[in-house]
Amino acid sequence: MKTFKIIVSAAMLVLLVAGIVTAQTADGKDLFLDGKCNTCHSISSLEIKGKMDKGPDLSDFGSKEMTNEFLTKYLNKEEKLNEKTHPVKYKGTEEEMTALVTWLNSLKAKAE
Ligand code: HEC
Repeated sequence: MKTFKIIVSAAMLVLLVAGIVTAQTADGKDLFLDGKCNTCHSISSLEIKGKMDKGPDLSDFGSKEMTNEFLTKYLNKEEKLNEKTHPVKYKGTEEEMTALVTWLNSLKAKAE
């Protein structure tokens, strides 16, 4: 009986964590679209097509291994990349910024 309870608890924990992870992934994508980032950026791996393609495709952004801290500053126009600040400042809340940069850093192009 005790083992059964442990197994059930473990299974529930796994489901809970999976739920959080999925929610976070969806969040980042929503924030990206709500933030109009797709005006300039495509993420072709997720079939997001930028309207103007002014910025780079972010499909494999995660492999650049920028820290969340740096990316936050960059999107707040407090840091430069390639000697330029980002053209727009992200207007979301601090929590939304954290969710967004975490999501961006998780983007990896699938191996062909
Ligand atoms: C007005 C067009 C425009 C919009 C809107 C825009 N970006 Fe950008 N973004 C750019 C350009 C242009 C660059 C490249 C700058 C450079 O090469 O120095 C860039 C660079 C980036 C980079 C670095 C990419 C790399 O590989 O070096 C990230 C990450 C990024 N943008 C995320 C975002 C996010 C998130 C949003 C929405 C909040 C957003 N951008 C909205 C134009 C835009």
